[in-house]
This record gives sequence, C-alpha cells and structure tokens, in this order.
Amino acid sequence: MPDIPVKVNLVKKRLPLIKVLMDARQNVLTLLPEIATRQPIVAGRTIAPWFMLMDPQTIRSLFIEKLDIYPKSDVTKNLLRPAIGKSIFIVEGEEWRWQRRAAAPVFNLRNVKNLSPLMTDAAQRCVERIKECNTRAIDMNEEMVRTTFEIIADVTFSDENGFDRAAVHKALNDYMEHAGKISLFDFFNLPEWVPRPNRIISRSAMLAVHAMADNVITARQKSGASAPPDLLDLLLDGEDPETKRSMNKVELRDNLLAFITAGHETTALALSWALYLLAFDPKVQAKVQAEVRAVIGTGPATRDHIDELVYTRQVIDETLRLYPPAPIVSRTAQQDDEICGRKIKKGQTVVIPIYCLHRHKLLWDNPDAFDPDRFNGKTKIDRFSYIPFIDGPRICIGASFALHEAVIILATLANNFTFHAIEGKVPRPEMVLTMRPAGGVWLKAEPRD
Ligand code: HEM
Repeated sequence: MPDIPVKVNLVKKRLPLIKVLMDARQNVLTLLPEIATRQPIVAGRTIAPWFMLMDPQTIRSLFIEKLDIYPKSDVTKNLLRPAIGKSIFIVEGEEWRWQRRAAAPVFNLRNVKNLSPLMTDAAQRCVERIKECNTRAIDMNEEMVRTTFEIIADVTFSDENGFDRAAVHKALNDYMEHAGKISLFDFFNLPEWVPRPNRIISRSAMLAVHAMADNVITARQKSGASAPPDLLDLLLDGEDPETKRSMNKVELRDNLLAFITAGHETTALALSWALYLLAFDPKVQAKVQAEVRAVIGTGPATRDHIDELVYTRQVIDETLRLYPPAPIVSRTAQQDDEICGRKIKKGQTVVIPIYCLHRHKLLWDNPDAFDPDRFNGKTKIDRFSYIPFIDGPRICIGASFALHEAVIILATLANNFTFHAIEGKVPRPEMVLTMRPAGGVWLKAEPRD
C-alpha cells in the first residue's frame, strides 16, 4: 500500500505544443506544471500568454478588492452559457449583485436544515441499494452521483409532476460530458461565435430540459408553495432587498438548473473521493466509524448530529483539499494590472489552479499525504490557501448545503459499512469541468453490525 493516495502527475518539463493540444483534449489536469506547487506565480506562453497564481494574499485581492476587475473568465462561462446563461453562476456586475442578494437567503442555515431530512432519506436509500449488492464490488462514484442527484432533484423541483428526472439527469450529464470537455477553442480564448462542434450536438437536449423546467415553474406559480418550501418556492419568494427586483421566469429557470448542475456532481465527487480515502486508510475509517457510532447509534445521520460529527467533517475538509471538485478556476483582467510583480494586460486570463494551491509545498506540511488532523483546529490554516468553494463575495452559494449533505451521507455510509479497496482498481483524477475519478471508485462494502 503506497503511503500517499493517488495524485496527478504534474508536468516537470516544457511540453511541445502538439502534446499540449492532445493532453488538453484528454485531461487538462495533466497540463499543470509541478513548479506551480513551489512558486507563488508561474507565467508561460502557449500561443497566448498565461499566468497561474498560487499566492494566497494575491488570490484574496482578486476575489475581494479586485472583484470587478477580475470577473470569471470566458472559459467556464462559454461552456455553461447555453445551459444556464441567465443564472448567478454566469452573470456579472450589477446583474450578478442583485441576483446574488435575492438568492442568498435561499441557502441560509435555517433553510438548509429544513431541507436536510431529504438528505437523510436519500442516504438511507443508498444504504439499502448497497446492501442489495451483497458485498460485490460497487462503483461508489456512480452511487454518489445517483444519491446527490436524488437530493438536488428533491430540493429543487420537489413536485415531480411534469419534471422527468431521468430525462433531466441524462440531458445535463450528456451536456457536461460533451460540452464540458474544455474545448481547445476555449483554452486559447477564441471568440464565442466560433462554433463548438460538441455544443451544437448537446443543445437540443438542453432545450428540452428548459421547456420542462418552464412548465414546472408555471405550474408552481399557479399551485403555490409546497411544504416544506423547496428551492423553487424560496426563489419564487426571493427579492433583492435593495432594488426590490425579483427573478423573471428565465432567471428562475436558469438558476434552478444552475443549482442542479453546480450542486450535485461536485458534492458527489467530494463523497466519492472521501470513500476512496477511507478505504485507502483503514485507521481513519475506523476513527470515523467510532465517532459516528458514538454520536448516532445505529440509525442514519440527521441534521441534529452534524455539529457533533467533528472528525467526519475533518475527513470531508481534507478530501476537498486533496481532490477539489473544481480544481481550476480562472479570471480575466478588465484592465492592465500587476500581480506578484508580473504585468497583466487587459483581456489576459489568470488561472488559479486550486489543485496546486492545496498541495503547495510552502503552504502545507507533507502536502500529498492524507491527514484529516490538519483540520482539527490546532494548526492555523490561511483562509486563502484553502479554497475548495473559492472565497469572497463570489464564494459558492451552496457551500453549507454541500457540507451538510456530505457529512450526512458519509456518516450514514460509514455507520453501515466498512469499505475495502480493490487490488488494481485505483481511480485517476481527470478534469471534465470538475475533477472526476476516471475508472470509477470501485470498493467492496462490508456490512457492519
Ligand atoms: C462540494 C460541493 C461543491 C463545491 C466544491 C463547489 C465549488 C464551487 C466553486 C469553486 C465555485 C466558484 C466558481 C468560480 O467562481 O469560478 C462555486 C460557485 C457556485 N456554486 Fe458551488 N460547489 C459545490 C456545491 C454546490 C451546491 C450544492 C450548489 C447549489 C445547490 C452550488 C451552487 C453554486 C453556484 C450557484 C455558484 C455560483 C455563485 C456565484 O457566482 O455567485 N454549489 N461552487
């Protein structure tokens, strides 16, 4: 058994352009240079100049003081615009500000707690499915995607009438699968009017999803809120306290689809990698199991247990450090600037490789090791050296929802099973918009008494 869990083979020497092009098509992560885990900033040129920023204080200034100078780069926005173009994920400036103010209360702790019984139910259904597998090997990534999709579908469009969940799941997945591969056109910042072949194929399925979501919204406007209110009810009720503006139908639809798109796969990935890590390190797994049994007894985890599941949460935090579901984010300068002594010209993109930041040799001890005790509160962690949800005003709006969900599911699974690694089956980190475990997370689940 190796002493460190699987990692990306970072590039140690300059690559020929053709290799860069090939690798970018397969897995953008393999383009990350190893030097990005040792320097505060790295600059280079592949057709156009590029910058990678790993200095926590400068990252802080980009995310807070220079928020308007550095909006999200076109790379991710171009990919997602046809699916969720009018959502807070994509819009900028004043448009983003009022939407964010209107949507913020939707994800406050009270609402997250109100929705969490649906998380407990989905976790319990997942346990029943795994039991039926009778200790055969299971791809836990597939299981986690299914479980988190059930939750996000339950909390967005709780009323199933007119909303074909399987069709929506398939259309969104297909879209991400095809369009989500960072196109070379995006990589080199070609203008958006250059047609992206994959995106044309995925468009018709997306239009069908839009139509379905529109119908559900119209029906809900007529029927009134469900009990407890789901995310659609809360958004319908939402209003920007400053301008009193509320969302029109297209904004409502795109935001709900944004919650589904941004919300379920990311959380599924956090859980999949966490389960891989528990099987990788049986001592950590035993410690989680002991905590869970002491706090919960034998049932599933609920919202009332979250605060006491301290070590389980540390495992989630450490998983998000080693395998951040969004491993790279990028920002494009709207004016000439200087960061870490480098001149950035208007229009140039600064990449923040969260994967490298989280494994930076100047910021972390033994960065590639799996050690949940880093998060036990005894060692101070600089706020901007650990940013799985980024930080500042544009921080992930669903962060507390995701952490709640991840703790409930991981604790429920650890309370019911001991997970064992399978010889020769090690997932490979691969980036398709998010950091997926290529090959799946195949584990054996041994039932616990
Ligand atoms: C472990 C799970 C998750 C991770 C690691 C994650 C990560 C992130 C990151 C890194 C961003 C910032 C992207 C950027 O600025 O370039 C983001 C934004 C966002 N996330 Fe999450 N996310 C997770 C779960 C969720 C959930 C559960 C939801 C909703 C239900 C959600 C909804 C959003 C939205 C709407 C934004 C855009 C916010 C804005 O621009 O104002 N995410 N997320």
